Amino acid sequence: MNTSTTSPAHIAIIMDGNGRWAKKRFMPRTVGHVKGASLVPDLVKNCLKKGIRHLTLFAFSTENWSRPDDEVSTLMGLFIQYLEKEIKNMQAEGVRLNVIGDISRFPQALQDSIRQAMANTAGNTSLTLNVAANYGGRWDILQAVQAWQVANPNASVADLAPEQLGHYLSTAGQPEPDLLIRTGGESRISNFMLWQLAYAEFYFTDTLWPDFDAAEFDKALTWFAGRERRFGSVVA
Ligand code: IPE
Ligand code: IPE
Ligand code: MG
Repeated sequence: MNTSTTSPAHIAIIMDGNGRWAKKRFMPRTVGHVKGASLVPDLVKNCLKKGIRHLTLFAFSTENWSRPDDEVSTLMGLFIQYLEKEIKNMQAEGVRLNVIGDISRFPQALQDSIRQAMANTAGNTSLTLNVAANYGGRWDILQAVQAWQVANPNASVADLAPEQLGHYLSTAGQPEPDLLIRTGGESRISNFMLWQLAYAEFYFTDTLWPDFDAAEFDKALTWFAGRERRFGSVVA
């Protein structure tokens, strides 16, 4: 078994702390979201440069609907803007966009933009960018079990093995995250990728997401490089 930690194949990020970043500056929380979203294109470029092939960003959780309406609609608007502005760059850079989550609750225009961006970038192979939107780890596991049952109508759940379920998760076909980064000082995963993070290394930093620049990202990668991964085994 390969226990050496070189470069992570898949990084998952809980981009937290936008609201507090704005509050510290006596500005509305939405300003923090605008600043936070503006970091994503450079982060993607940085991953491409470093040869990281899979990046998953937690943009909106199944629980975030409980926020005030104006904040939810700002987040939807930013998502549409991102798709409109970044599609050209994604094509040029070979980025495949894969939105994971239940998008059926989004406004129709946003659903259409998501489907179109995913179809347009489907053939790109440099990096897969999973944007988790209306995503929850519990939802993902449940929808995988349901999809498995639809694909195997005569099978009993007693026959369902962990490896099989992986084929029906929203990240099917991709390696599981090696590294989870959470900014914003909290030490929890807030219903993110509950299945896929089974053996990820967890990096928590107090840095708020809008301050998470290339130097902060390097710090996380250096920390990851120093981890010894054992996957339940022993290292001689
Ligand atoms: C993360 O920042 C962005 C989303 C959840 C969409 P927050 O908005 O949670 O910022 P804090 O945690 O309140 O500072
Ligand atoms: C997790 O952050 C969700 C995203 C970053 C999209 P939250 O701010 O919603 O998580 P809690 O409420 O602090 O657990
Ligand atoms: Mg938060």
